[in-house]
Amino acid sequence: MPLEQWSPDSWRKKAAEQAPVFPDALALADVERQLASFPPLVFAGEARKLKALLAKASKGEAFLFQGGDCAESFAEHGADNIRDFFRVFLQMAVVMTFAAALPVVKVGRIAGQFAKPRSDPMEIKNGVALPSYRGDIVNDIGFTEAARVPDPARQIMAYRQSAATLNLLRAFASGGYANLENASRWMLGFVKDSPQSARYQELADRISETIGFMRAIGLDPESHQELRQTDFYTSHEALLLGYEQALTRIDSTTGDYYATSGHMLWVGDRTRQPDHAHVEYVRGIKNPLGLKCGPSLKPEELLELIDLLDPQNEPGRLTLICRFGADKVGDHLPKLIRAVQREGRNVLWACDPMHGNTIKAKSGYKTRPFERIISEVRAFFAVHQAEGTYAGGVHLEMTGKNVTECTGGARAISEADLSDRYHTYCDPRLNAEQAIEVAFLVAELLKAERLQRPHAEVAAE
Ligand code: TRP
Ligand code: MN
Repeated sequence: MPLEQWSPDSWRKKAAEQAPVFPDALALADVERQLASFPPLVFAGEARKLKALLAKASKGEAFLFQGGDCAESFAEHGADNIRDFFRVFLQMAVVMTFAAALPVVKVGRIAGQFAKPRSDPMEIKNGVALPSYRGDIVNDIGFTEAARVPDPARQIMAYRQSAATLNLLRAFASGGYANLENASRWMLGFVKDSPQSARYQELADRISETIGFMRAIGLDPESHQELRQTDFYTSHEALLLGYEQALTRIDSTTGDYYATSGHMLWVGDRTRQPDHAHVEYVRGIKNPLGLKCGPSLKPEELLELIDLLDPQNEPGRLTLICRFGADKVGDHLPKLIRAVQREGRNVLWACDPMHGNTIKAKSGYKTRPFERIISEVRAFFAVHQAEGTYAGGVHLEMTGKNVTECTGGARAISEADLSDRYHTYCDPRLNAEQAIEVAFLVAELLKAERLQRPHAEVAAE
């Protein structure tokens, strides 16, 4: 059946999972009109640049690092919060770049990651049932009837917060903060006495040494922009389609439609039905796309989705973000890889070791055991190695704050410790120390992969 004409609102004719019901339709329409008149947050040219970098990653010439909060919140919109996240992010990126000797494509789950799909439309607490919290862009986390009513005005707040966050991130990325000569200063105070910090310090010292060497032989670091700044991109789940539609714009240079709410958008595992609204919306925008792949995804369904989302087989267009659970990678991933290889499709494979490893602790907290996260990352790399394909990225939920949300790690956070600093608005995140530990693991795996390549073009350079 030929596909119908796409337009920014063609998704409205399709069924949509996870769609909030706004009681005031007029207020919603008014907000969407306002948003449509606001400036874009990102530019089409930036999205194209990111796509080109992801294309490199899909060929094994770069690595995607995507990470950030599960859900951003209005309450935690401080400069310190953004800075601390960015510091850990830079540390992790530099660990991977240095150890693997590969460019790292830096994509935050930030400046727009507000809407959340929920497995249950209702939340029950002490015998009271209320509509679930769907992210600050939709309703309030407070457990009262009034708080949970979807309020369209929140979309304006989310837009403005995204703009301010992005502004600060752009300044950090290009204004000197991300200068490699500052690598040893990105360490956060509370990480300083940990095993990760000693390891990181050693690496930062080697970078300083390298830069000193460059200077000594007459390569002036000041005249090399690439040492002093970095490219940082934004991403979020394309979930609240009215918001996305309002920020969809025609790029004047190409005449194509782009989502301007973020550089890269992904479709969640719960909203990826080929004939439903979310897939319909994203297929028409030219941004790089992510598709979350969970254990229920069959190879033939994946191929159908690839046909819809990337009909031109364009490198960099589609990243498959796999989130099976540590013990399920071996059952599910090889079948998907083989189907994609058989059809000759260009995709980038990334590993989300977070979402398939969420459990409920006896205390009632949602948590993720660090060992399982690590074990999913290892399994992902091992399967790609066995299939002869490239493990090209990692997707993490992390924060720069010293939280206790995932158990384990070098400091062995226990289930009993979870209540100490459990601050997430949604899923449990890696804290700074745990996140850096994952970065070291990924770096090791990448290095091993690079050294073993049969056609070791990178190693031979
Ligand atoms: N511009 C390079 C890059 O982004 C090197 C670089 C500068 C860098 N600052 C960085 C790498 C901070 C990682 C982290 O890769
Ligand atoms: Mn999450």
